[in-house]
Amino acid sequence: MITIVTLDGPAGVGKTTLATRLADLLGIAYLDTGAMFRSVAFAFGDGAWERPVDQLVPELNRLDFDLEGVGKNSELLLNGYPLSPQIRTEEVGLWASHLGRIPVVRDFLRRNQQAIGRMTSLVAEGRDMGSVVFPDAKHKFFLDASIDVRAKRRFSQLKAMGMEEDLERIRAQIRIRDDQDRNRVVAPLKPAPDAVMVDTSALDVDRVLEKLVEHIKERGL
Ligand code: DC
Repeated sequence: MITIVTLDGPAGVGKTTLATRLADLLGIAYLDTGAMFRSVAFAFGDGAWERPVDQLVPELNRLDFDLEGVGKNSELLLNGYPLSPQIRTEEVGLWASHLGRIPVVRDFLRRNQQAIGRMTSLVAEGRDMGSVVFPDAKHKFFLDASIDVRAKRRFSQLKAMGMEEDLERIRAQIRIRDDQDRNRVVAPLKPAPDAVMVDTSALDVDRVLEKLVEHIKERGL
């Protein structure tokens, strides 16, 4: 039987760390849908969101995502190749957010995500996993935290990857993405009605993970 666990929330809330660890504990694959939006944004380049939609469609149709492995060894492949580390900058995150407002881009990625979810059990991380992509998921979580906490977390995360970025700039970019992701017309960032809400501002990763695991154990995987 396939089980889907969804983890949604804004930038910097700790979704990636939590989703990887949760998938590892549960022994199922981890799907980072933000990485899919980022890869499309990186492949299409700066300003792609201003191009006519009928130009984007054939380019989208040339892309194919696959997911291999389990837990922390899960790996997304784009046309058979690992994703570029350059998709991780805050700038590409902002491009991804701009592209995420375009319905054909969302439709294309939703179909890819759902196809992956038909093949294997998943912890799926993103903005609209519980609300739109996997509405029948067995366990849905929505994570949130204050913007200050999230900007600092993102700063440390990028630093750990060897990318020094300015804290104030990160905060400003996260704020733009928050507004854009929450207010877009299609699949805006918002909790599914049946999602469990978790405020991570005052909790460390281990504590949040404990809460998620407790909930899953209560209801069975
Ligand atoms: O989770 P992330 O920071 O890697 O995501 C980058 C951007 O991609 C995010 O600001 C909005 C978009 N995105 C989306 O619209 N829907 C998703 N399911 C995942 C990401």
